[in-house]
Amino acid sequence: MSSYFLCKESALPVGSAKVIKVGGETVLLFHLEEGFYATQSHCTHLFMPLKKGKILDGCRLQCPFHRAEFDIRTGEVARWACFPPGIQVVNTLRTEKALKTYSVEVKEGDVYVDLSLTAEPA
Ligand code: FES
Repeated sequence: MSSYFLCKESALPVGSAKVIKVGGETVLLFHLEEGFYATQSHCTHLFMPLKKGKILDGCRLQCPFHRAEFDIRTGEVARWACFPPGIQVVNTLRTEKALKTYSVEVKEGDVYVDLSLTAEPA
């Protein structure tokens, strides 16, 4: 079991995200309408930081660099890198890869992540 306290539930408003270093990992914690979710903090395309990514439609994260989109709940690729024009050349080497996700649990107003488990909604 690798469960770590991340923050108070009230510290992260719905529709926002926060980078947190914990247990030797850096995770990106999201508070969606559906609950809390955590993913790796760097994009799987060219490993750029995702902390300034946009949350689209309440559940997808768009990387600010080449606009790949990921389902925050599962880490699956919703749309691969598509910007700027010509990025497709890079994509021949960097093929689609899902984000790593972590299991998040809320207990008595505290948010915990289990770094050994993949995601379930919290
Ligand atoms: S680094 Fe994220 S889409 Fe390229």
